[in-house]
Order: sequence, then C-alpha cells, then structure tokens
Amino acid sequence: MKEFPGTAIQIARQAGALLLPYFRRRVTVEYKDDVDLVTEADRASETFILGKLRANFPDHAVVAEESGGYSGNSVYRWYVDPLDGTTNFAHGFPVFAVSMALEQEDEIVLGVIYDPTRDELFAAEKGSGARLNEEPLHVSRVARLEEALVTTGFPSRKRHSNPNIHLYHQLNMRSHGVRRPGSAALDLAYVAAGRMDGFWEIHLKPWDLAAGKLLVQEAGGCVTDLLGQPHHLDSPSIVASNGLLHNQLIGVFQEILSGVNQIELPSLRQPI
Ligand code: IPD
Ligand code: CA
Ligand code: CA
Repeated sequence: MKEFPGTAIQIARQAGALLLPYFRRRVTVEYKDDVDLVTEADRASETFILGKLRANFPDHAVVAEESGGYSGNSVYRWYVDPLDGTTNFAHGFPVFAVSMALEQEDEIVLGVIYDPTRDELFAAEKGSGARLNEEPLHVSRVARLEEALVTTGFPSRKRHSNPNIHLYHQLNMRSHGVRRPGSAALDLAYVAAGRMDGFWEIHLKPWDLAAGKLLVQEAGGCVTDLLGQPHHLDSPSIVASNGLLHNQLIGVFQEILSGVNQIELPSLRQPI
C-alpha cells in the first residue's frame, strides 16, 4: 500500500496538467447520448492514466468511464474518472477534476481528486484522514439545515427519468441554497473541505464518487444513500454531509419522497 498514494497523486496531477491545454483551446464535443458529452481530452486523460496504472501495477484491475477498463489478478481495483465535469470543460467553465480511487477487497482505501485549474489536490487514505495539498481537511460544523449550503448534480443520461429537480426545489427553500457546480467529485471534495455542508445525487457511477466518498468519511463526514441506508458503490443514490446535518437531510428527503410538507412552487404570475 505504501507506494500507492504517491503514485496515484503523481498520475492525477499529470493527467490534470494534460487536460489544461485542451481546456484552453476549447475542444470539439461529441455525444455519447442526447446530452452526454465526451471530448478528445476525456480519452487522452484516460489513456494516460490507464497506461501509468498498468505500468506501475500490472496485476491491478481498472474500472474507467470511457473504455470500461480491464480485469486484474489481485485484490486491488482502481476506479478512474479521467475528467469529471466534461460539460463544464466543453463550455470553458473551469470546474472539473481528475478522480481516482483504489479498492482493496471491496473497500475503498485511497481517493485522489485533482482540480488542475486551482492546483488543488484532495487525497484520503483509509484510517489516515483527508488532506488538501498537504493540509488536513475537516468537514464543516454547520448543524442546522436552514444555515447550510448544499450541492447536487443531475445526470447527463436519462435526465427525464431523474426526479432530482423536485429535491432541488425543496432543499433550495430550506437551506442557504443549493449549488450545482457540475463535478460530483469536486462536490464531494468540497464537503470534505467544509466548503459545502452536504451533497446528494441520484444515479452516479462508481468512478464519479468512489474517491470523494472516502474523502468525506476521512474528513469526519457521513455518507449514506437517500433513505439513510449504508451506501455502496452501486447504490442508486448518495447523500454526503458533515454528519451534523445528516439526519435532517434524510428526514427532508423522506418527506419529499412521500409527498408531505412540500413547499409549493410559486406561480410565475405572482408579483415579486
Ligand atoms: C458528471 C458530473 C456531474 C454529475 C453527473 C456526472 P462527467 O460526470 O459528475 O456533476 O451531475 O451525474 O455524470 O460525465 O462529467 O464525468
Ligand atoms: Ca463523472
Ligand atoms: Ca468523466
């Protein structure tokens, strides 16, 4: 395990540096689905990361967003999102990251998220805490949802079948506000860093959240699914918080999902 963090950090930093020239010259967008974008930068970053992982750890398995990855011959498996925030990236909006996590026998033991535009490297090792550029990270101490800043996202695939806009509306009414920055990896890293008090999303993939989940847990936060049950990499939803807010968030989600205590949408004709 000793060499894994240093190597993963180096690879994530190099992949992030590789993304920047593509970002500056605004790459052409291709479509995987109606609004699910991919660019040559996603592929270049993934090819780079997988090449480095194979060279350093030839017997490890890899699950990666664009190519699918490959199987291995050990207890280790990497989850790789070579560019989390592709829609932002393609539009020149500087919120995106490289995300890598290492699983050992069904447990995430290492998470690394690198934001190249801010040169921010978030890393966590199981049982050893979380850090941002070597500084220890801790979740926020906001204890009331009414005083919390929370964040969420919407999937690029099958958006019409995702109910999150209802949750977005209700949470926006009950908190200091909901942000939708467009990178689930950074959303989770920001909860770990205390910049956000909570995050939720429906239908994320393991490569979106594996590293960020460990960051939140190692920074003292809490991660479950939307119903408050233990979160697994293939759970259909995720809620991450500073821990103090967790029961309030789950309670509100339960109310919304069961249709009680809903705050009505105002009419557009209502005077402002
Ligand atoms: C997306 C981002 C976004 C989230 C979407 C993800 P991608 O990942 O994390 O914040 O809302 O659900 O698919 O496609 O940019 O790697
Ligand atoms: Ca992603
Ligand atoms: Ca991606």
